[in-house]
Amino acid sequence: MQRVFLVLAGLGLSVGTTLAKLPATLSNAPKTKSTAFRPGELWYDTDGNLINAHGGGLLQVGNTYYWYGEKRAQHQEEGVNVYSSKDLYNWKYEGVALPPSQDAQSDIAAGCLMERPKVIYNKKTGKYVMWFHLELKGQGYKAARAGVAVADKPTGPFKYVNSFRPNGNMSRDMGLFVDDDGTAYHVYSARENYDLRLARLSADYLTATPQDSLLFSKHQEAPALFKTGGKYYLITSGCTGWDPNQASLHVADHPFGPWKPLGDPMTGPNAKLTFGGQSTYVLPVAGKKDAFIFMADRWNPKDLKDSRYLWLPVQFKDGQPTIGWLDHWSLNFFNKPSARPL
Ligand code: DGJ
Repeated sequence: MQRVFLVLAGLGLSVGTTLAKLPATLSNAPKTKSTAFRPGELWYDTDGNLINAHGGGLLQVGNTYYWYGEKRAQHQEEGVNVYSSKDLYNWKYEGVALPPSQDAQSDIAAGCLMERPKVIYNKKTGKYVMWFHLELKGQGYKAARAGVAVADKPTGPFKYVNSFRPNGNMSRDMGLFVDDDGTAYHVYSARENYDLRLARLSADYLTATPQDSLLFSKHQEAPALFKTGGKYYLITSGCTGWDPNQASLHVADHPFGPWKPLGDPMTGPNAKLTFGGQSTYVLPVAGKKDAFIFMADRWNPKDLKDSRYLWLPVQFKDGQPTIGWLDHWSLNFFNKPSARPL
């Protein structure tokens, strides 16, 4: 094994290149600076450890990006990890932003599930606000609650605030979206995932207001909402547990809809199964027009910490977002429209 490392280092390959076929237990990859995204391969942080941030989302603060995601053991959920990066390729581990509580009475007692964490910044309160899908310890996916935590800094520590069913609705897979005017929304799978709903958040982002509507009833989860050209786009997945399925794209003129279906945004080989992944977030790339990164998880239910990250550029064909597979790519992709595969 030592020889493999030496050979890779000798070739100057970036982390996550050829190691993909090796077992994930093989930690401490060579600390080479990465200059490309390699969807589905092993991604290491700047300490050489595998990045453990699943079902995640990003937040940009100044010139730094923060990546929040589920910290997973083989199956166990161990809280929310946070990483930071200035270039989106190289990620520094900043620690556990929100650990499970050691208090057995807490909603987030160790053994609970904290899935799909997303963090937004509230300009009025100066707080970083995290929402996540919370399942209470020992209850499987029955509780179906949204959990909220706050922090003064993007790296935390986050303080758990509350958990609830927004306006009484079950709330499982979820995303957050902040509009240009600072209004924030919680988009979530409700009614056993048959309904997709959207609730406007309170001014402090700590709770859902009664402005809460059904978007559509199509048995969808994994919502990722983004906006461009005055239109709102929503990517969702079907509901097949950890198994991949077909993605859906919807468009609207307002977060509350009406949402018009645009079909499957994925194109090319393995598109019908979202390239083996499930949506989690769409990142607007700072300083680049119409540059968005689609982020998905390729879940590995046998070893959840070894679930892989699929980050792919969103392309616009006839004004409509589409996503195709690339083995490796860099942000330069957004500078060269002619080089784009579509
Ligand atoms: C699919 C969801 O999108 C995931 O976040 C997770 O809850 C799994 N289902 C559990 O089966």
